[in-house]
Amino acid sequence: MSGLVLVTGATGKTGKSLVAQLEDQGVAHRAATRGGERPFDWTAPETWDAALEDVASVYLVAPPTVNDPYSRMIEFLRLATQKGVGRFVFLGMASLPAGGPAHGQVHQWLKDNGQDWAVLAPSAFMQNFAEGSHLATIRGEDTFYSNTGSGRVPFISAGDIARAAFVLLTGPAGLNREFVITGEEAMSYDQVAERISQACGRRISHTHISTDELVERFLKRGLPELTARFLAAGYETIAAGAHAQTTDVYGALTGEAPTTFQAFAKANAQVWT
Ligand SMILES: NC(=O)c1ccc[n+]([C@@H]2O[C@H](COP(=O)([O-])OP(=O)(O)OC[C@H]3O[C@@H](n4cnc5c(N)ncnc54)[C@H](OP(=O)(O)O)[C@@H]3O)[C@@H](O)[C@H]2O)c1
Repeated sequence: MSGLVLVTGATGKTGKSLVAQLEDQGVAHRAATRGGERPFDWTAPETWDAALEDVASVYLVAPPTVNDPYSRMIEFLRLATQKGVGRFVFLGMASLPAGGPAHGQVHQWLKDNGQDWAVLAPSAFMQNFAEGSHLATIRGEDTFYSNTGSGRVPFISAGDIARAAFVLLTGPAGLNREFVITGEEAMSYDQVAERISQACGRRISHTHISTDELVERFLKRGLPELTARFLAAGYETIAAGAHAQTTDVYGALTGEAPTTFQAFAKANAQVWT
């Protein structure tokens, strides 16, 4: 395949790891960032043309802090297709399927219009505890908050998602489907609290809150209202047991075993102490 891989969300949890893998493997790529030499901004369509120059495939990450970015992403997909981009790999979300709201709109567009596409659909990243939403309260209050009750989640490492994205971006064409990608073990947030406590040597708890309280927390963190509501509703489906199943997608794509929560916790013990 000739042409560059364009990585959106290139400074984010999965994007930075994908950029590192592309660099390691000598795959020509461009990191699409707002702060780069060739700035790329989902909210500024005038930056898209330059970002798409000589691009053959795109890793698509919906920006969590932009209010309703999905119609803009579809506009971008139309432009990219016109400019000859053949392949798209989209980071979706297991709780937001094709045809549904938010990420589901982009997924549906790819299903209807994409020539060569894949959707990676995880439930939740391990990194939410180490660099994402839960880190500040783990450090400051020895707890993290969720509305997931005793529902279990097959947490996956962001690095593993990037590894799968690498395979999908550089491997055979025309897969044209969703990949529900998970870690090897579904865990409740209470179990996560136990594992983090063991790793960092002090008691960390999981504080159970309602969906409305979670929305409030997301809004205080600066998430747009629509995103806050979709995310909180998505997490609520975890409480109902909707996403507890593991899949062998990661192994089938990469030939490797996914990162375990223990390995993740051991590697991040310092971050929590
Ligand atoms: N976290 C989870 O558990 C989880 C689970 C399933 C799906 N997802 C999905 O994964 C995606 C990424 O979420 P995340 O929380 O992990 O975020 P992230 O990828 O760590 O960070 C967001 C990225 O978006 C970029 N960005 C933000 N606003 C932008 C803009 N206006 N234009 C261009 N780029 C922009 C940021 O780059 P700069 O700020 O450097 O510009 C950053 O690289 C989201 O769509 C989320 O719904 C997350």
